Amino acid sequence: AREESRFRGSLARAEEPAAGSHRAVGRPAVATDTFVNTPDTDPSIAASRAWARAIQDGAATADAGLATLRAARVEDPAAVTAEVAAAKTGAASWQARTPEERAAVLHAAGRTLEARRTDLVTVMMAEAGKTIDQSDPEVSEAVDFAHYYAVRSLDLHRFEGAVPRPRDVTVVTPPWNFPVAIPAGSTLAALAAGSAVVLKPAEQAARCGALLAEILWEAGVPREALRLVDIDAAGIDAGLGDALLGDPRVDQVILTGAYETGELFHRVRPGLRLVAETSGKNAVIVTPSADLDLAARDVAQSAFGHAGQKCSAASLAILVGSVATSRRFHAQLEDAVRSLAVGAADDPTTQMGPIIEPAQGKLLRALTTLEPGERWLVEPSRLDDEGRTWTPGVRTGVRPGSWFHLTECFGPVLGIMTAATLDEAIEIQNAVDYGLTAGIHTLDGAEIAHWLTQVEAGNAYVNRGITGAIVQRQPFGGWKRSVVGPTAKAGGPSYLVGLTGWERRDVEA
Ligand code: SER
Repeated sequence: AREESRFRGSLARAEEPAAGSHRAVGRPAVATDTFVNTPDTDPSIAASRAWARAIQDGAATADAGLATLRAARVEDPAAVTAEVAAAKTGAASWQARTPEERAAVLHAAGRTLEARRTDLVTVMMAEAGKTIDQSDPEVSEAVDFAHYYAVRSLDLHRFEGAVPRPRDVTVVTPPWNFPVAIPAGSTLAALAAGSAVVLKPAEQAARCGALLAEILWEAGVPREALRLVDIDAAGIDAGLGDALLGDPRVDQVILTGAYETGELFHRVRPGLRLVAETSGKNAVIVTPSADLDLAARDVAQSAFGHAGQKCSAASLAILVGSVATSRRFHAQLEDAVRSLAVGAADDPTTQMGPIIEPAQGKLLRALTTLEPGERWLVEPSRLDDEGRTWTPGVRTGVRPGSWFHLTECFGPVLGIMTAATLDEAIEIQNAVDYGLTAGIHTLDGAEIAHWLTQVEAGNAYVNRGITGAIVQRQPFGGWKRSVVGPTAKAGGPSYLVGLTGWERRDVEA
């Protein structure tokens, strides 16, 4: 049963057609539990675990736990420097292991992540506001990353004419919106490439990060090869970023976050080796040849899953020709949106949870203010005093070149645009600065083929939602301003190559 459930969140969706599909991940090739660590004594880890258990037992609520934990934070960038130093030392022993031994640890990590699924889901729901249908697949994705990178790591040693020379220290700075899958994927990739890792969780998801580290240690990742910046001890101020980025022992950084953050990293440390997946402003095109019911469902799910707080989310739907005035499409979409159950993330009936922090800035503007020519198909409303819980919004009449067309707002608002032809729709889709995900709904093969040659997005999806890339089948990463530095696709064949240094192998005569 466990083997079956392993891939239920991600690979179970593999039936859906998508551009660039690959075959599914197989069973682990290597599987041993050789490297089991001694139990950890880190107080932050113990607190995370105890918290997860207390919530599961009904002895604690998410909010009370968070308030206590956050209040306990101090600020001490020296705690960060110490972790970098420890990783620098730890890299040697991790690299002294054979590639097969390291791969076995990664497979064990996959199994342990699966075994701790309930704890991970609990903490994601409580800390990061992820509903169960969003948090459970994250665990599956993390498991997939572990097995996939384990297999791929062995390929690194099979290149003709080049020998991998692992980089010693990789800093991983993941976002709060995928607080398990992204830190797990980045950390496991760096480890697979032979690097020691300093993991600095997002401050809003520090408990998720701590629990992840504990699970990886439990699986046999050596503590000296994976260091956790304990957010409770190190604090969250700007000094922490400087301490990490400014340390010359840091060889590379894997960042997932805003485009501006990637730019900032480069300003703080020019020449930094940075693998960065950044922002998106993603659109789904719906043509008159589409299955309109399917299109409405996929647009709603892509726009409002995790309350739209995904770099991959659909922020725009571009309706072509007769779809622009189709009553059927608009009614289906409106129904799908209005029927979403909004509420607390830890209520199992909730379909759309709260946003991570009270709406402000661009998101508040998107939720409350229309631009000239726009009107609400579904007007959002605030359900709490704090401004974290909102019903979803759909604005129609969004004009090309307008603020909402071009701006990433990262929340539960969808904009509807119209185009006379498919080419006009593609022009609107490509006009944004970013190029992360994109979708088209059409049953016309010629339209699909044409769109695939024109679309400027790293992940181009046909007749499916545009979130939820699947490890190996749909390597995830964008172009234009959705990436800072070289393009790197997580869960794809070249990701580990980019995280590794290389030396020429002398060919003997
Ligand atoms: N990989 C996620 C998705 O595809 C985003 O980070 O939705």
